[in-house]
Amino acid sequence: TQAAPVNLVIFGATGDLAMRKIYPALASLCKNGLLSHDSSILAVGRKDLDTPQYTRLMGEKLGGSIPESCMADLVPRVRYLRLDPDASESGYTLSLALGDLDDGKPRNRLFYLAVPPAAYIPLATMLGEADLGREEEGASVRIVVEKPFGRDLPTAQELDTVLHRYFKERQIFRIDHYMAKETVQNVLLLRFANALFEPIWNRRYIDHIRITAAETLGIGHRAEFYDQAGVLRDMFQNHMMMLLSLCAMEPPSMFEAELVRDERSKVFRALRPLDLERLDEQLILGQYGPGMSDGQSVPGYLQEPGIPPDSTTPTFAWLKVYLDNWRWQGVPFHLCSGKRLEAKHTEITVQFKSVPVSMFRKTQGEIIPPNRLVIGIHPQEVVRLEVQTKGRGSTLCLQGQSMEFSYGAGAGPGRLNDYAKVLLDCITGDQTLFWRQDAVELCWGFLTPILDRCDCPDSELTLHTYPAGGPGPKAAQRAGS
Ligand code: BG6
Repeated sequence: TQAAPVNLVIFGATGDLAMRKIYPALASLCKNGLLSHDSSILAVGRKDLDTPQYTRLMGEKLGGSIPESCMADLVPRVRYLRLDPDASESGYTLSLALGDLDDGKPRNRLFYLAVPPAAYIPLATMLGEADLGREEEGASVRIVVEKPFGRDLPTAQELDTVLHRYFKERQIFRIDHYMAKETVQNVLLLRFANALFEPIWNRRYIDHIRITAAETLGIGHRAEFYDQAGVLRDMFQNHMMMLLSLCAMEPPSMFEAELVRDERSKVFRALRPLDLERLDEQLILGQYGPGMSDGQSVPGYLQEPGIPPDSTTPTFAWLKVYLDNWRWQGVPFHLCSGKRLEAKHTEITVQFKSVPVSMFRKTQGEIIPPNRLVIGIHPQEVVRLEVQTKGRGSTLCLQGQSMEFSYGAGAGPGRLNDYAKVLLDCITGDQTLFWRQDAVELCWGFLTPILDRCDCPDSELTLHTYPAGGPGPKAAQRAGS
């Protein structure tokens, strides 16, 4: 059903996030009739443009990626407002513009901070000081921030203190774009809407779980950000931890935002602190060297423009974590992510324990491959159960087979693009798929000891160099196999 009308304010409206993600998501909502006709968009940026110039820019940047009929639906809703958030009158200017859009009656408002993280605190403060965080009877006010939520525990808390000074937790939507992926959401439905998996989803039957997010891309034009962040802040503190929580959480009594988020936080609370004396058994870090990617030779990380030649920032990490609770005691979760690997590949593999004994003559003494449940997120959106069957023929021999459901193949016309679902949730106020502050802090708390070591130039952590376009550090392949 169509969501209630909303005035969406996009800060950073000329930027990459707005053009690559937010407008395509809005177009997807329009196409599916999910954005109310009365909804408007206030595009806010520093560039000196008027509305026709801005909508022309939208046309250039979005050209081709959005069907014309959707552009025709979107463009008349857009007004551009040039705003310098540092100027003292900016809050007032914004209030006036919003008042015009309200047209006499308060509307739901959604502030989307599609800006670099350093601008979150000044913008939230500007909104708060102009009293724009206050909700009026019958009209909601919400604010959306994208990861990274701080760069460590203290900065995450500082951001949260400012947000909470002006907004209540139910007004704050912390987006992790991995939760926008349908196959990621599907983990919960697969686990909790089937009686088949839950009885065996525990330490008695599961040997280990592997979560992989491998990328072929390097750091692109983000040298400054990436060299400060590294793979642990960029991918682990958010996406990898989110995937871990979905695999490991207990079923909530109802599928309601707070109950689901409570269960996710309990997973993070159960993370066993890393043993810093034996860190090399649990953590392998790497940095890509020169190599080949998609048939082209590419520079190593240290040769990327803007990266200091002696940088020790990791671009690859393999991390083995344990959860100290009844369900998962002793089961390792292998989390692995890196840039400039041989293929773009995002996947969760649940590996079950082997059969206790092989009674098939041909395989006596041989290990029968264990069952695996593979949840493919990219490039294939699949759920695949790998089982052993009898191969055709007169002799009794085992053959591995896959039972596979392909998400892509079943896509119907009503399918929303990745960001559209989470944007719709922001508009309707459903926080299920978003990070809650306690979870953010628990994850920072868990990772801080290793981040401190990574950040320390004299740290004794080994940084393995791996050739771009390959499978990653050998040590990680050995550890993960
Ligand atoms: C982003 C990271 O959050 O996720 C990027 O900042 C990374 O470095 C990207 O490339 C990966 O997302 P996806 O959806 O392509 O797997």
